[in-house]
Amino acid sequence: MERENFGNRFGVLVAMAGSAIGLGNLWRFPYLVGSYGGAAFIFVYIFCVFLLCLPILFSEVIIGRRSHANAYGAFKKLAPGTKWKWLGVASVITPIIVVSYYSVIGGWSLEYFFKSCMFEFTEGATQAELGSMFDKFITSVWPPLVGHTIFLLLTGLVIIAGVKSGIEKFGKIMMPMLFVLIIVMAVRSITLPGAMDGLVYLFKPDFSKIDGEVCSAALGQAFFSLSLGVGTMLTYGSYIKKDENIAASSSYTAVSDFIFALIASCAILPAVFAFGLNPQEGPGLVFQTLPFIFSNMPMGGFIAIIFFLALIVAAITSSISLYEVGVAYLVEERHVSRKKASVIVFAVAWLIGALCSLSFGPLSDIKIFGQTIFNFFDKLSANFLMTIGGFLMVVFVGWKMSKSDVFDEFTNSGTLSANKRIFKFVYFMIRYVCPIAVLMIFLSGLLF
Ligand code: PFF
Repeated sequence: MERENFGNRFGVLVAMAGSAIGLGNLWRFPYLVGSYGGAAFIFVYIFCVFLLCLPILFSEVIIGRRSHANAYGAFKKLAPGTKWKWLGVASVITPIIVVSYYSVIGGWSLEYFFKSCMFEFTEGATQAELGSMFDKFITSVWPPLVGHTIFLLLTGLVIIAGVKSGIEKFGKIMMPMLFVLIIVMAVRSITLPGAMDGLVYLFKPDFSKIDGEVCSAALGQAFFSLSLGVGTMLTYGSYIKKDENIAASSSYTAVSDFIFALIASCAILPAVFAFGLNPQEGPGLVFQTLPFIFSNMPMGGFIAIIFFLALIVAAITSSISLYEVGVAYLVEERHVSRKKASVIVFAVAWLIGALCSLSFGPLSDIKIFGQTIFNFFDKLSANFLMTIGGFLMVVFVGWKMSKSDVFDEFTNSGTLSANKRIFKFVYFMIRYVCPIAVLMIFLSGLLF
């Protein structure tokens, strides 16, 4: 059977940026910036994204396009009969774990979008009221399960439609819309009286705040945000045509992901400051603090709808990329139809996600290594599997693949002169700097 490809350059970009831009940008990045001292965190983050993670993104895409195969098949093809196939196995399992719990938060976003359309964040509601609304919701059994199910179904439907008419087409409509939505919200937030303090917090660095913990949080976030180490960028890379410039597509992805995270922070933190709230709120920022702001600011009801719609769109384009990894594997390695593969991935992800969802309520007493089921899967993948996966992929490209193969992919057999010029530097980063830095920061992260 013919393998599908992305149709054109813009298609590649929206798919890759769609994967990168997600809950990580709208939910995780702003609360990390809030918790780790604002601009100082952003400063370290820039370094992590462009110097350390971009070469890793190049590596994943190189493995994908070189092999022209799914995450498991790629290692079988490029390193036949070796233990590298286990990296392939992990690259198929991890995204299924991530999409399971990612879809739970996607379901919360659906519920909050629905609540905002019903104007449930009533004018003048207090923080305590909205906090307890959230607690009541996530600890209940059915509403979050319904959200999780609908979210996963929507994702599955896009996947069934295929690479070009599903993933690419969806991205081409949704990604521009997402940027418009978040810019509208940022403008509203920045123009609130008292928003200036938030901007200062975001853009004026206090370098004394940088320590090991900040570095490890920034690197973890950069990994998560660029969708690294789990086989999604590898799989998308395998759909990129041979004449596309993968270095350019990857760089545009990193730049748009970073810009989006910044705009998202401008949409959220200035409003937090304008209301005199604590920016170090943590994960509850989006579902507790923001609804309070929406219910108390002029045009808040309308802005709430925009924000939660943006959250859903961002989340779906990311969950699609996670979902696709398992589907590509099943179709190519197990020879099942795309539809059947989508149903299988749905079933597995639904089940794990359901357990994660229930771990906020009825299953909250079940602990794995001292963590609730949701936290266990979140920590296992974000702090562990992703970083190790990214580390091994960069080692694979730097030390296992031949230099000439890597050069061929990076420069389209020497035809891209700008890429040829930077190849030496990039290869050095891939071979030495990235693996060492990722390992060091990963190990130091174990200390915190
Ligand atoms: N990059 C996504 C975000 O920032 O929300 C999350 C993600 C998607 C992680 C796809 C990993 C992945 F493979």
